[in-house]
Amino acid sequence: MERPIGVFDSGLGGLTVLAALRRRLAGERFVYFGDTARVPYGSKSAATVQRYCRQDTAFLRRFEPKLIVVACNTATALGLEVVAEEAGTPVVGVIEPGARRAVAASGGKPIGIIATESTIASRSYYRAIRALEPRAEMWERACPLLVPMVEEGRTGEDPLVRAAVEEYLAPIRGRVGSLVLGCTHYPLLKSALAAYMGPEVALVDSAEEVAGEVAGVLERDGLAARDGDGGIQCYVTDNPERFRSVGERFLGQPLREVTLVEPEDFFVQEQAAGR
Ligand code: DGL
Repeated sequence: MERPIGVFDSGLGGLTVLAALRRRLAGERFVYFGDTARVPYGSKSAATVQRYCRQDTAFLRRFEPKLIVVACNTATALGLEVVAEEAGTPVVGVIEPGARRAVAASGGKPIGIIATESTIASRSYYRAIRALEPRAEMWERACPLLVPMVEEGRTGEDPLVRAAVEEYLAPIRGRVGSLVLGCTHYPLLKSALAAYMGPEVALVDSAEEVAGEVAGVLERDGLAARDGDGGIQCYVTDNPERFRSVGERFLGQPLREVTLVEPEDFFVQEQAAGR
């Protein structure tokens, strides 16, 4: 059987990235791991997120993936190197592709970046954009309330979402040519973000760019699926029913196979490795 592409996220937000991967790579098989028991990662320290990243990668390795996608912005910001050490396969994160797209979309104007607290504190987007465009001016803002609002099922039309967007983005509005949606959940609030920022501001969602990068790596390494018929298997550390019902909105299609990973099972490999 074709080896799968492994994808992991702190929870269900990474399904927005999986949706783009599926559109681009229809014949590939995907194993998605969502750490729903420990979400959010976005308010945790670097050491904790790195430990989680190591465990999440070790879990995905059981499926012998040919490539691992770190779909979570926070995990990419704080743990991409840890994943690369652990993976034994090519690894694609979401920040560099997002930075590339932001520079291309900004038309030389300042770039706004919104993300979780830990992603903003890491300055990973800032550095990735500066590496591409040393003169880029940036405005960064953590928006911690947006993740729980999306998790609750609120949309861009919801008055509470609109109020939070206004509160967070008031210092940025009118100052930027593009806005990086530096968190898996924000693409679901595009209507509120676009309405507040105005039509002249490009909203940058890294998912399509990530899918393009994954396609490029698979081609380069001769790993692309030949005649595969695709499919998604999901594994979560808590509450598979909720993952299935909310996750369908993120993915835009029904989620059939969602399996609960018991803690004893999840941690067994790490203990065996003496970590
Ligand atoms: N997946 C996270 C991100 O993209 C958002 C949710 C969390 O804080 O864990 O940063």
